Amino acid sequence: MKAKILSALSHESGFVSGQELCDRFGVSRTAVWKAVQALEKDGYQIEAVRNKGYRLLSVPDILTVESCTSAIHGDWAGCCVEVYDSIDSTNRRAKELGESGAVHGTLIVADCQTAGKGRRGRNWETPPGVALSFSLLLRPGFLPDKASMLTLIAAVAVERAVRDMTGCAVSIKWPNDVVLNHRKICGILTEMSTELDSIHYVVIGIGINIAQKSFPPELKEKATSILMESGNTVNRSALLARILEEFEKLYTVFAAAGDLSDIRAEYEAVLAGLGSPVVIEDEQNRRSGICRGITKNGALRVETQDGRIEEIISGEVSVRGIYGYI
Ligand code: BTN
Repeated sequence: MKAKILSALSHESGFVSGQELCDRFGVSRTAVWKAVQALEKDGYQIEAVRNKGYRLLSVPDILTVESCTSAIHGDWAGCCVEVYDSIDSTNRRAKELGESGAVHGTLIVADCQTAGKGRRGRNWETPPGVALSFSLLLRPGFLPDKASMLTLIAAVAVERAVRDMTGCAVSIKWPNDVVLNHRKICGILTEMSTELDSIHYVVIGIGINIAQKSFPPELKEKATSILMESGNTVNRSALLARILEEFEKLYTVFAAAGDLSDIRAEYEAVLAGLGSPVVIEDEQNRRSGICRGITKNGALRVETQDGRIEEIISGEVSVRGIYGYI
């Protein structure tokens, strides 16, 4: 009932009468009042005026089932939601749900992760109250070799949402780090399970640094938060909802084309280091070139010293600027 009342109040800038809430949800006045009280206990400020009803004055920056479901309005992304105060890893949980038949669009959100996973076996820190960490379970109908493009789409969704909600000029470091002032604010880890030539499920895990005030010395040069760069924070449930909304739109465009043809120009417009020198490192060697954008399949186009275009596929390759992370 809390989620329903919250959703009804968040959709209305004015008062919603107690009777209307009772009629809409088929419950008693006492049940409505109890739900309002419970929301107030969570930190929502709700004005109650006799003969007028209830009005939502402010929302706290908490991550709960109610805060997420009342903010999410998409068609499928976030259709089923699990929210944890603390969990080892939302990707780990999403994969577990992927194995047990959870539907396309299932969302796992956590305020804190105790064993968050980053790319290439690294850890991903998610202290309580300052980050947005979630994993989206997908069951795409396309071939497994297309799945890596979903990560680039997710980066564009985060870029759009953060830019629109904070006004910060964020960019993307290929393939999928979202950066602000040359430091990383968001990492994306895509994991998948395949069956012969089809995808069983894909998990897209997204971690965004929102309100951290500092980072440990080993991350200082590379990581930052929205707060550290802009002096402001953003409501995490609202940001989550906005990212999912953008992701749904991009997913539809991607699924129709079967590749990134219609997203490529937008990706390149925010691609950090476009036209600049980059260093490419894999297990075999280290070479440099000029970043020339991406292909319709999401590979990085790098112009080598002899003028050829090399297409770099994400995976175990590290690409960075000649002077550091970008
Ligand atoms: C990276 O190394 O840049 C990727 C970091 C991905 C972190 C997110 S936080 C939510 C989800 N759960 C995890 O355990 N990892 C991803």
